[in-house]
Amino acid sequence: MTCQFRCGNACAHDVPNTSDNPYFGDILSAVFSRRGALRAGALGTLVATAGVAGAFPAVAGTGHTPATGRRGGLGFTAVAPNSADALTVAAGYASSVVVRWGDPVLPDAPKFDFNRQTAAAQAKQFGYNCDFVTFFPLGRDRGLLWVNHEYTDENLMFRGWTSGDTAPLEQIKIGLAAHGGSIVEVERAGRTGQWKLVTHGRRKYNRRITAQTRMVFTGPAAGSALLKTAADKHGTTVYGTLNNCAGGTTPWQTVLSGEENWNQYFVGGDGVPEAQKTYLARYGVSTTTSIPSGNRRFDRVEERFDLAKHPQEINRFGWIVEVDPFDPHSTPVKRTALGRFAHEGATTTLARDGRVVVYMGDDGRFEYIYKFVSKDRYIPGYDRHNRDLLDEGTLYVAKFTGDSPAAEIDGSGTLPKDRAFDGSGTWIPLVSGKKSYVTGMTAQEVLVYTRVAADKVGATKMDRPEDIERNPVNGAVYVALTNNSNRTAAQADEANPRSANMHGHILEIVERWNDAGATTFAWSIPLVCGDPADPSTYFAGYDKSKVSPISCPDNVTFDAEGNLWISTDGNALKKNDGLFAMPLSGPERGRVRQFLTVPYGAETCGPLITPDQLSVFVAVQHPGEITGATPDNPFSHWPDGGSSQPRPSVAVAWHRQGKKIGS
Ligand code: FEO
Ligand code: CA
Ligand code: CA
Repeated sequence: MTCQFRCGNACAHDVPNTSDNPYFGDILSAVFSRRGALRAGALGTLVATAGVAGAFPAVAGTGHTPATGRRGGLGFTAVAPNSADALTVAAGYASSVVVRWGDPVLPDAPKFDFNRQTAAAQAKQFGYNCDFVTFFPLGRDRGLLWVNHEYTDENLMFRGWTSGDTAPLEQIKIGLAAHGGSIVEVERAGRTGQWKLVTHGRRKYNRRITAQTRMVFTGPAAGSALLKTAADKHGTTVYGTLNNCAGGTTPWQTVLSGEENWNQYFVGGDGVPEAQKTYLARYGVSTTTSIPSGNRRFDRVEERFDLAKHPQEINRFGWIVEVDPFDPHSTPVKRTALGRFAHEGATTTLARDGRVVVYMGDDGRFEYIYKFVSKDRYIPGYDRHNRDLLDEGTLYVAKFTGDSPAAEIDGSGTLPKDRAFDGSGTWIPLVSGKKSYVTGMTAQEVLVYTRVAADKVGATKMDRPEDIERNPVNGAVYVALTNNSNRTAAQADEANPRSANMHGHILEIVERWNDAGATTFAWSIPLVCGDPADPSTYFAGYDKSKVSPISCPDNVTFDAEGNLWISTDGNALKKNDGLFAMPLSGPERGRVRQFLTVPYGAETCGPLITPDQLSVFVAVQHPGEITGATPDNPFSHWPDGGSSQPRPSVAVAWHRQGKKIGS
């Protein structure tokens, strides 16, 4: 059921990337010695010293691990894999629900009533299927949460729902209103790490953004002929954001939200002009069917979702959206300089010279890893300048090269003779403002059809690149590659070394001189996920009898010690998804431990450790979403228990004695 509603059964269709790009690049000698990053400071340093060169020391040049010598500071006992319909946290910790689907966001939101939903109510209530979570402190005991609402599961939201073709129009409108994002004010409970939704007072920042909210385009593709429609002759204004998956937070305190599987919301792909069909197909849109099965039929209430009538409306989705959480009247902005693909997230860091760097994954089988580097530098405190930094810069795509002979990478996951999946890589420029680096494509075409551009320059096909984040302690960049069961042994390469990759892996990138603005890097794989008893797994060389099984890494974050926290989506080991922690340095490097499990049928999203380290937020997406479940036969009753309907919710966990998360 998740497959149908989240991505329109993408895995059941042909892989849209039919380019002959390498699965494995030429064997080049490393452009520089691999890893050796050093610890630079505590969490927060990155933003606090933003713009100051040297937030991370340069890579030493001869080191072979990013070890800092610190123990990593993890002290909890792992939660055992389970199938409970509960949020289970490590011993010594407590958890609670912060905000559920249907809870009030705007002060005048009506009380949620599952059996009497309306679109007007949903537009004021917390949306469905929460994903990316970020937190903006308002002093010590208050804060704002931004939460993405990735997709709707009408089959669980409405009794008797059969299909978008026959659903009452009001239900389709509720679906539109349940997408987008929410901004809610939260407050600390006493002096604990628990946070609660503020349900009283003005809540002046609270806001719902939906699939109908007015937004504008900025950057080099704004106003492009490719973005013009009958309703928007200028190609500068669009209504709504769709399938917002992961995201990021900028140093100037705005939210970046990624439009991911937006291709599934349109019908009429068979009716577009022939010249457009190649591009549609590259983005996974059927060009042979009029109404793909399982389509929500948004076109029944808004004609723009019919490609046969409005072929370019779809070009207006697939972007990174920037939202200012501190101005509820601000217009969200789709930043075209960041390219258009199935954006998982967009996390920012600074280059050594203060330029802003955004790392982005394109979540599809055999898709690519991107980064954007701004033209101008970030100036702390000068928000009028910073606000438009993401409109001008260079978009790059990654090419990975292994350092072991191709014959040693056989798809089994067996380490090559040098005992590491590792190598070097290059960031290949695609476009810089109005300048295209791709033969035969204009700059605007590169930005609107970024996948096609990346195909042409020989980017490396990856195993579903999801969240990509820079470690605030060692400066290395970590990529979650969720899985790719389609990769064959012949297609295995050192960066994607396992065929039929059911469980995914984590890639570590060390930019040259530890400078996020660099155009070359070293990389290695510290974690190949799965059941540790499976010989194809690798836990950075750590004793596999002492680690937790982990499958399908999706989102990542870090604690103040620089430990990697990983949330999972789609555990192929047939247990519930969860949140895991793994030290990246010292003798515990590779010791994966499960910190929490989410309820039956749910995935774990948006892990976020608060700056004070006392709380971790997780989004519990699609509880009970198991094929066969309906409101008359729910497979989960989380979070309200009893015979209640499951409700996607953001939860928080904290240590009962006020210790730091991971202690
Ligand atoms: Fe929405 Fe790539 O997970
Ligand atoms: Ca190697
Ligand atoms: Ca995700």
